[in-house]
Amino acid sequence: MLHNLSKNSSVINHYLAEIRDAKKQVDRLRFRSNIRRCGEMIAYELSKTLKYKSVEVETPLGVAKSEVLDQSVVIASILRAGLPFHQGFLNVFDEADNAFISAYRKHHKDGTFEIDLQYLTCPPLEDRVLILSDAMLATGASIQKTLQNLESYGKPSKVHIATIIASVDGIKYIRRLYPNAVIWACAVDEELTARSYIVPGLGDAGDLAFGEKLQE
Ligand code: URA
Repeated sequence: MLHNLSKNSSVINHYLAEIRDAKKQVDRLRFRSNIRRCGEMIAYELSKTLKYKSVEVETPLGVAKSEVLDQSVVIASILRAGLPFHQGFLNVFDEADNAFISAYRKHHKDGTFEIDLQYLTCPPLEDRVLILSDAMLATGASIQKTLQNLESYGKPSKVHIATIIASVDGIKYIRRLYPNAVIWACAVDEELTARSYIVPGLGDAGDLAFGEKLQE
């Protein structure tokens, strides 16, 4: 299932316009903050699909019937652009456990690349709700590599994949491999460049959030 949040008018589209805008995205603090806010908004929408249990809460004046989360959430993020996005999810699911994955594109001379996964830290995933956040879902290769590497940590009850911008091809790829995963995107763009950047996209999310890197 795919939730494309830009299909409905909401403030997410306003954040996204600033994230994409070449003149505004140079303000790194605002860029990171908008990405974090997108994470918070997706997390809120996603929270509507989770299970809750009824509880009674003692207020200073009486007893209120309420609901609390009845599922255990793990937020997994692919570094480095995923960091502010991760914080958005964690602001909403503040008791979640966390996983971090370093996966980067190792480019070959012929223009192709492979995903090099060098670091992974993860709690048990058995029967838990896994939210895998990757700021940009371009080809889907990092998500595939990450989910393959997470298999040995247990089978989640549900896998959610969250992204700021997804490409049509990336979504197709992930849906074919993981038909039961739920994809959450703030926007879906049509094109990929020869170097697998999303068009119109936003550029390099990691560089915009944290500065340019030396190695490509
Ligand atoms: N990663 C990015 O930062 N941007 C893209 O367009 C694709 C992958």
